[in-house]
Amino acid sequence: MRALSAKNVVNAIRSVLGKGAHQLHEPLLKGKEIIFVSDTIKRNFVSTAGEYVNRFEKAVKKFSKSNHAIAVVNGTQAIFVSLKVLGVRKDDEVLVPALTFVGTVNAISYIGAHPHFIDSSWENFGVNCDKLEKYLSKNAQIIGNRCINKSTGNVIKAIVPVHIFGHPCDIEKVIKISKKFKLAVVEDAAEALGSFHKKKHLGTFGDIGCFSFNGNKIITTGGGGMIITNQAKLAKKIKHLTTTAKLKHKWEYIHDEVGYNFRMPSINAALGLAQLLKLRTFLKAKRKLFYKYMKVLKDINGISLFKEPKNAKSNYWLQTLILDKKNSKFKNKILKEFHKKKVFSRPTWQLISDLKPYRNNQKMDLSIARDIYKRSINIPSSQKLIIKNK
Ligand SMILES: Cc1ncc(COP(=O)(O)O)c(C=O)c1O
Repeated sequence: MRALSAKNVVNAIRSVLGKGAHQLHEPLLKGKEIIFVSDTIKRNFVSTAGEYVNRFEKAVKKFSKSNHAIAVVNGTQAIFVSLKVLGVRKDDEVLVPALTFVGTVNAISYIGAHPHFIDSSWENFGVNCDKLEKYLSKNAQIIGNRCINKSTGNVIKAIVPVHIFGHPCDIEKVIKISKKFKLAVVEDAAEALGSFHKKKHLGTFGDIGCFSFNGNKIITTGGGGMIITNQAKLAKKIKHLTTTAKLKHKWEYIHDEVGYNFRMPSINAALGLAQLLKLRTFLKAKRKLFYKYMKVLKDINGISLFKEPKNAKSNYWLQTLILDKKNSKFKNKILKEFHKKKVFSRPTWQLISDLKPYRNNQKMDLSIARDIYKRSINIPSSQKLIIKNK
């Protein structure tokens, strides 16, 4: 075994990456992308209507085995609209992990609802279900069909569990808690296309699931998102609301509420469809990259690579180094060394509850999320590190 040092870690990772600069996650656009995108241009059908949007929605629906899929402009707005159709209103509270991307939390704020921060778990980086159940039992009470926060008097209306870095959170337990406390569930599966819990695709456990197809995700549409649900009524509402709430009519423009222009353009959907054709290949490559990193790290003391939780088949979207508890002081040294060598790596997000807009929001004890932040580093994870020159 070798001693833990920034140089040893970076050299080990370098031996997998090879020479040159490396980004954290880059798209791989080497399939039918140009053909499909050119086709939308040739047909003059590049905007929010067209065959490619339908085809892309159908393909995601089939892959995730959900009943309905609605393509939208990005993952953040997907979460916002989902919360809205589930009845989240101004001054409601929504439970959300403090350890997530800021978009998850902003989506709650756009409604005027209050993000209420919950802790994470070392098992899967997601919701800490044991802590959450105890916390709600102590701090909330069910009155009628509603969960009331005893200290604020507000309704705790929903929970947004996040599948961090593509790893399934303990979603079955989250659903159990949500039933007990009458919470709607929007799964933030932005990072988790291609990830399964007990062979069921993430995003299909809650009322609604949301994906992101930002440029750094496992597949990309440039920018984009998708909302999936098994409930026809919700799907209809989502489609209506994201299409400016326009009523069907051949020439009149009649809108029956304040809707949003959130539908995905066809040109983006064409890119997404081509990318989706490669998803299984990408998933294999990401798993292979995980094993390669495992191999080079196993001889270094005091550091490990995060492995998918039990019962999960993760897409391994972002690979994560974990420092042993006594070694957190190495985090910044390792980050510095990576950046010196032009290898982009990053810590997990700072807790959102520490950021300026959210400092005064309610939160439970967040000691595990804090510990994860102190001891985790994401390293280059692109599928193109494995799928070369294809
Ligand atoms: C966990 C998480 N939630 C939400 C989002 C928001 O998605 P988008 O960037 O498509 O708005 C992202 C990605 O960027 C994310 O990683």
